[in-house]
Amino acid sequence: MRILSGIQPTGNPHWGNYFGANRQYVTLQGNKDDAFYFIANLHALTTVRDKERLSQQTFDMAVYFLAIGLDPEKSTLFVQSDVPEVTELTWLLLTCCPMGLLERCHAYKEKLAKGLTADAGLFTYPVLMAADILAYDSDLVPVGEDQQQHLEVTRDLAQTFNYHFGETFILPKAYVVPAAGKVPGTDGEKMSKSYNNTLEVIEDVKAQKKKIMRIETDCRPMEDPKDPETDNLYLLYKLFASDEQRQEMEEMYRRGGFGYGQVKKELARIAEEYFAPIRERYAKFQADPSFVRDVLAEGARRARAKAAEVLDRAQSNCGICIPK
Ligand code: TYM
Repeated sequence: MRILSGIQPTGNPHWGNYFGANRQYVTLQGNKDDAFYFIANLHALTTVRDKERLSQQTFDMAVYFLAIGLDPEKSTLFVQSDVPEVTELTWLLLTCCPMGLLERCHAYKEKLAKGLTADAGLFTYPVLMAADILAYDSDLVPVGEDQQQHLEVTRDLAQTFNYHFGETFILPKAYVVPAAGKVPGTDGEKMSKSYNNTLEVIEDVKAQKKKIMRIETDCRPMEDPKDPETDNLYLLYKLFASDEQRQEMEEMYRRGGFGYGQVKKELARIAEEYFAPIRERYAKFQADPSFVRDVLAEGARRARAKAAEVLDRAQSNCGICIPK
């Protein structure tokens, strides 16, 4: 069973990335032949147009991978662009991809809805993502809810290719943790770098507390009982809390008679404590860039070997070869 996932190096990873996907990367790792995690720098090029920023953020994301507990002995860690077989496979998939399939994809539709013009990179983004997944015969892809549509596109493309050229690709499945599939941001919308509503994993503790204290809440009187499941703040608290802490907080909401300030302080405290070991490891790996580079080089070597095998299979099945 191969697990695979990727994250774009578009900025500091936030709680949505961590709980929605990255934490699952760690729990699912175990054997470096089976767990593949990469930094999607080619995807990031559709939004980051600053060479120093993109390369620095790519490195920082590798440091983050190690800091959250990905172990190069238990998973293969690499940078997307180090496996050129994936971009070759993208072309094969593009030739099987109806325009309508991509026109329905949300990132493209959202951009058009805002009146912005999309480039072909953004339009074909889901096909590169499909190649990322199919190139390694992946079975399971841990992601947040927002990527489920892309997994469906991946399965569609694999099926179309298999239909035309015979069994070539394995059909992958998304792995979404329901309670963390869509982590809300400080304004209650989905937490996202592009909405400016993020709380980050590696962030100055004081600055983070300030952001938490400004999280939007309703203005019902303190004494009123409240439904925790509809409250943004509770949903964030729940990500960190133990069963016991969660139950206590839930009861407090249902009883009423508390202030949101109290919950915010508790959220800041629990988050600070939870991420402290990750922050410590982040500083440690950041101070050892040659180790990080070695991990990525070894990961790329392993990932390329697998992708070359799958690309070869796809090429010979569709006739991109000289007859034997
Ligand atoms: P990206 O970089 O936007 O996000 C990385 C992961 O974080 C999840 N996520 C969330 N989960 C829950 N709540 C949120 N508020 C939230 N925000 C982000 C995302 O669902 C994702 O799992 N296209 C991908 C990167 C990619 C990829 C791949 C992923 C490229 N190729 C192949 C899997 C397999 C993306 O933009 O993720």
